[in-house]
Amino acid sequence: MTELYPKPDKPAQILDMNAFDQARSKVSHAVQRRLNNVGASSVLFYRQPIEMVFAKGAWMTAADGSEYLDFYNNVPCIGHCHPAVIEAVAQQMAKLNTNTRYLVNIVDEYIEKLKATFPAPLSNVVLTCSGSEANDLAMRLACKSTRGSGFIVTECAYHGNTAYVTQVSPSSLKNDTLPNHVVAIPAPSTQNYGADIEQGFANRVQAAIDELSQRGIKVAGLLLDSIFSSDGVFTHPNGFLHSAVEVIRRAGGVYIADEVQPGFARTGTHFWGFSAHAVVPDMVTMGKPMGNGFPMAGVITKPYLLEAFCEDVGYFNTFGGNPVAAAAGLAVLNTLASEGLQENARVLGNQIKAHLLDIAEHSSMIGEIRGSGLFFGIDIQAQGVPDAERTIQVIDRLREQKILAGAAGKQGATLKLRPPLCLTQAEAEFFLDGFRQVVLD
Ligand SMILES: Cc1ncc(COP(=O)(O)O)c(C=O)c1O
Repeated sequence: MTELYPKPDKPAQILDMNAFDQARSKVSHAVQRRLNNVGASSVLFYRQPIEMVFAKGAWMTAADGSEYLDFYNNVPCIGHCHPAVIEAVAQQMAKLNTNTRYLVNIVDEYIEKLKATFPAPLSNVVLTCSGSEANDLAMRLACKSTRGSGFIVTECAYHGNTAYVTQVSPSSLKNDTLPNHVVAIPAPSTQNYGADIEQGFANRVQAAIDELSQRGIKVAGLLLDSIFSSDGVFTHPNGFLHSAVEVIRRAGGVYIADEVQPGFARTGTHFWGFSAHAVVPDMVTMGKPMGNGFPMAGVITKPYLLEAFCEDVGYFNTFGGNPVAAAAGLAVLNTLASEGLQENARVLGNQIKAHLLDIAEHSSMIGEIRGSGLFFGIDIQAQGVPDAERTIQVIDRLREQKILAGAAGKQGATLKLRPPLCLTQAEAEFFLDGFRQVVLD
């Protein structure tokens, strides 16, 4: 059984945070059925898991009729069960669904629309089915073009579930240490680097390159979640990645921006998280919100990186980039624009943050508040010290207030909040009222 409350020196495991724990919880018939079916790989939220039956907009409905405001999930970015996606998927499914070996107009239409959201040097797209596949491919492209094999990631990063990507996901490793070709560096926080995060972080990237080199390994890439979500959400000051990217390029490595978490307008100020840092990545990986729940993901890259790779092995993905996925993705991009959801994320995000800062003035439980747009990280503490147990209590009490939330961070003591971008003013107030009930002294 893994520890629910990790020791401070041991990074929290992303899948264990606020998870159902057989040893501590009552096992209902439904939970036992799930355990029988999926065994040890079972990952259920909450000590008393919720059976969900329905969702719409920002709300999820449970089997007992309870309605929960979803402040946890960044996948349904335009809102759960959005009619535009349902309609697009149903129509395309009824017409044609096949692989990318045929010319199908909607696939290229989608890729062109997606590419228009990126800076020009990023102009080739490979569509996959999951963010893990996207990162796996990006890492392979990086190795081929740099002739290196080393990767630098952050201490609590999560980049996916393939064998290769698990090696660069410290937050997944319960017992193993990182392999020789991976160096994990502390997240870009003031606690770790003081006031000059940019310089401190860049220096650590250089030190990691040197460490790899001492091990006889040439660096291939710097792979960073642009919002450092599993590390605890680090967004400010804007631009702090700039020097680190220069450092990796000077060493002959590439910079891969993992946008699976912040991408698709969530940060409000920008469509992509990396844009806040005024850097152009060599590759960007994306997923989760891309199809609003339809499983799709991808890599956008500078063409030379893909050319080098395809000389060797090439890439084909049976379901990646199928016309139904393209239809879902297109509906997401169109709806983000037509409903003004990036602006909504910016405006509501700023309002919520201002209220959170005000609430923090009156709560000894709240430490630092970070985030951008509708992506927040709130440190939960006891006597000024990060407290995982208390964070779980807050999450459980938010559930009582009918609000779904999650945890992140090295100690598992950061509340991670990511409501759908269609959130309304009334829903924001519902959240703030519930949050006040839970955290005010
Ligand atoms: C930052 C980040 N990258 C990659 C992934 C992997 O994506 P997927 O679960 O679609 O394989 C995740 C999933 O949580 C993620 O948070």
